[in-house]
Amino acid sequence: MSATAQPIAHLVTSGLRNALGACELRLGIAVADGLAEVAVPGAATLAAGGKRLRPLLVFCCAGSRHDPGEAVVRAAASVELVHMATLVHDDLLDGATMRRGRETIASSHGAAAAIQVGDYLFARAFAELAGADEPAAIEVLAAAALDLSQGELAQGRAAFDIALSETAYVDRVRCKTASLFASACRLGAMLGGASADVQDRLAAFGEAVGMAFQIFDDILDLTGSSAATGKRRGADLRDGTVTLPMIYAIQDEPDLASAIRATADDLEIDRLCDRLVGHIGVTRARERALLYVADARRVLDGPLDGADRTALVLVADGVVDRYS
Ligand code: IPE
Ligand code: IPE
Ligand code: MG
Ligand code: MG
Repeated sequence: MSATAQPIAHLVTSGLRNALGACELRLGIAVADGLAEVAVPGAATLAAGGKRLRPLLVFCCAGSRHDPGEAVVRAAASVELVHMATLVHDDLLDGATMRRGRETIASSHGAAAAIQVGDYLFARAFAELAGADEPAAIEVLAAAALDLSQGELAQGRAAFDIALSETAYVDRVRCKTASLFASACRLGAMLGGASADVQDRLAAFGEAVGMAFQIFDDILDLTGSSAATGKRRGADLRDGTVTLPMIYAIQDEPDLASAIRATADDLEIDRLCDRLVGHIGVTRARERALLYVADARRVLDGPLDGADRTALVLVADGVVDRYS
């Protein structure tokens, strides 16, 4: 993803643009409030772009996007801050050198700085949401943060495990990615005044979209150019993260297992990515992602208490076959 990446650009109507602008303002202040060690790399990370997909989900589910109100904007900023914190720590854990087209904080400033910046962003996320004065909202974000940390732990445990099952992969993705998407939707619905049933359905929508999103991210890791994704191709192969396209590719071609398990040099990783680009494993993973999109769309049938159904359908469709 480049510095100019938009939050699923075709979605951003003027109302949503205003809401996202308000969120951006809060994010800027949240980062600037930190000490220089946090404020400087934090501002650079914000300036580098990002799709702001999770705040977008908050606003679409709140159903008051033309004037979302302070609590909803706080919720949108809080989910993005948790996301940012996670990325800063995730890049350290994954040994990733590139994010949003720039060097990662772990790479440019070192491990200690990445830990400190991530910690600040996590803490600040909860402070931001506390200002919304809705205790139930804090519970929602806390559950997602807990899932995230468990998901990253599970991923670390399973590094280079080419026998990883599809079920274990799905459980991990539900924790590390889909849970925050679900929380973004639930927070929007809750603070927008939706009924408990609609809150549950929108959370289920977010979870399904998050699953599709991560599966497609895992495909892009193998097939997307750095110029398109803003990340280094083959990062998952490099750090031993076994993903769904790899699982399916190994099922089809067991000989691939040893190549995927081997800690290969950059040239070998590039070759392996090239080999996987048109592979049936990638095709099947994309089909699986599309099944989650279909699940997500189905959940939207019925009353949504003012949530922006049209925009939500566009988000669901947009997370697959995107470039960043
Ligand atoms: C990256 O998320 C981490 C994953 C869950 C795959 P995004 O692709 O939403 O990252 P940005 O915010 O747009 O950079
Ligand atoms: C998503 O996984 C990271 C978290 C949700 C913690 P990835 O490791 O695939 O994300 P990228 O590819 O680095 O953005
Ligand atoms: Mg990563
Ligand atoms: Mg990835």
